[in-house]
Amino acid sequence: MKNYTQSPLPFQGQKRRFLRPFKEALNGFSPTATYVDLFGGSGLLSHTVKQHYPNANVIYNDFDNYSQRLENVEETNLILGDLRQILKDYPDAKRIVGKTHYQVIDRLKSEKGFVDFITISSSLCFSMNYGTSLEHFEKDSLYNNVRQSNYRCDGYLDGVNRVKKDYRDLFAEYRNHDNVVFLVDPPYLSTDTTTYNRTDYWKLTDYLNVLKVIEDTSYFYFTSNKSQIIELCDWMENNGYCNNPFDDSTTVTVGAQLTHNARYNDIMIYKNNY
Ligand SMILES: C[S@@+](CC[C@H](N)C(=O)[O-])C[C@H]1O[C@@H](n2cnc3c(N)ncnc32)[C@H](O)[C@@H]1O
Repeated sequence: MKNYTQSPLPFQGQKRRFLRPFKEALNGFSPTATYVDLFGGSGLLSHTVKQHYPNANVIYNDFDNYSQRLENVEETNLILGDLRQILKDYPDAKRIVGKTHYQVIDRLKSEKGFVDFITISSSLCFSMNYGTSLEHFEKDSLYNNVRQSNYRCDGYLDGVNRVKKDYRDLFAEYRNHDNVVFLVDPPYLSTDTTTYNRTDYWKLTDYLNVLKVIEDTSYFYFTSNKSQIIELCDWMENNGYCNNPFDDSTTVTVGAQLTHNARYNDIMIYKNNY
């Protein structure tokens, strides 16, 4: 089974930077447990658990239908191959204008079926900008950042059980099972979620509701100091309002990540309840 150290197709919020500490921490958990990846995203955590513990039962919640992007990787490679041709004499990283811009748009327009616009974005949009529809590419400035090699995804989700549902329904299904570990990586508060399936409701209350899944369970929970959720829980506890939902857990922080306007730390908190 091929070992991927990042999601094979671009995905915002993938836990690439956590893989080493995540695997180290997994050593303290059961190799035959059921691991339920409630917010599966690109499936990178599911993939990593299956690599680490081939006998584990891994449930990947593909809420964004990432597997559709994987299934269409050859079409995406064909589009990128044509874009390489169109842009072969165009300067790298330069804004695409004039006739060439129309050629690029025409190539995208000629696709009749599913187009993986998120992956195409990495080749045509300004750094970290993503479009999810043709209209975005027609309106936005495009740049020649076309990837020179094809994407490969083979074997990425082998052995992983895919489901697609709201995390609350999935949690309800598994909460009373024995030997279950929940992987909890919700969209971060105040983070760009435009490339996710639903973008409308990640407010503080929704974020706090997620904490219900770590009550008396074994879990890995991911957040960042940008969300300030840990600070909030500490404050509530220190001021006598409630117990801290993260009691008796272990915290690992991964160095500062830089976005265009801020630095922040990513945080992984875990607890084995067995
Ligand atoms: C931070 S990402 C997870 C990244 C993932 N761990 C990885 O490494 O690729 C959060 C994911 O939660 C998904 N999501 C949003 N609302 C959800 C819901 N109600 N139920 C399940 N997943 C949801 C988002 O669409 C997104 O894919």
